Amino acid sequence: MKRIAASILAADFGRLGDEVRAVEEAGADWIHVDVMDGHFVPNLTIGPPVVEAIRRVTSLPLDVHLMITNPERYIGDYAKAGATYLSVHQETCPHLHAVVQDIRRHGCKPSVVLNPATPFATLDAILADLDMVLLMSVNPGFGGQSFIEGALAKLSEARRAKNERGLNFLIEVDGGVKVQNAARVSAAGAEVFVIGTGIFEGPSYRERIEEIHRMIGGAAAA
Ligand code: DX5
Ligand code: ZN
Repeated sequence: MKRIAASILAADFGRLGDEVRAVEEAGADWIHVDVMDGHFVPNLTIGPPVVEAIRRVTSLPLDVHLMITNPERYIGDYAKAGATYLSVHQETCPHLHAVVQDIRRHGCKPSVVLNPATPFATLDAILADLDMVLLMSVNPGFGGQSFIEGALAKLSEARRAKNERGLNFLIEVDGGVKVQNAARVSAAGAEVFVIGTGIFEGPSYRERIEEIHRMIGGAAAA
């Protein structure tokens, strides 16, 4: 089953609780939370207290994307705040295997993110330990950027590796996914679609989500 993870980076932060309830009500499958530190990426967003507040207003899985240096220092905090999936960037983790183990030990589902220029092969040795691989289709830091077409080949590479090795990790894509390209991104191999401006800029969250579900073959299309 294909899923939509609504990225609250594009929501109105002044009404965050209402926005989260609204996308849940409109049919989003997961809530995607972008954590940025102003070091790994040139932008600052939110931390564990906000994740905890979001956890209280929705029953959907919380997909927490850590765009921070030294993520290993904060695994416990995000686990306690209620993260379901916890994604760390490969580029920030010299001891990636240890971090992935720690995420699982804290009761979260481990996921590793690759920037657009990081080859898929860097995950070869750890794929079997992951619940998800997140492939960036923009450079992380901001919503509303254009989809980088090179991500399509990497999505297909991920699907091939998953099938050939009989693994279960989910393949997630993040950045620049809209109604217009969702079908192509889905055909390339994406299974979980992070969508920010593609949902929150629309006049009707429900219409946007239903339309994208139809494009990707998700819940509303079934
Ligand atoms: C970018 C974030 C994304 C962002 C996607 O660094 O990781 O999750 O919210 O936004 P859109 O869908 O607008 O490209
Ligand atoms: Zn993200």
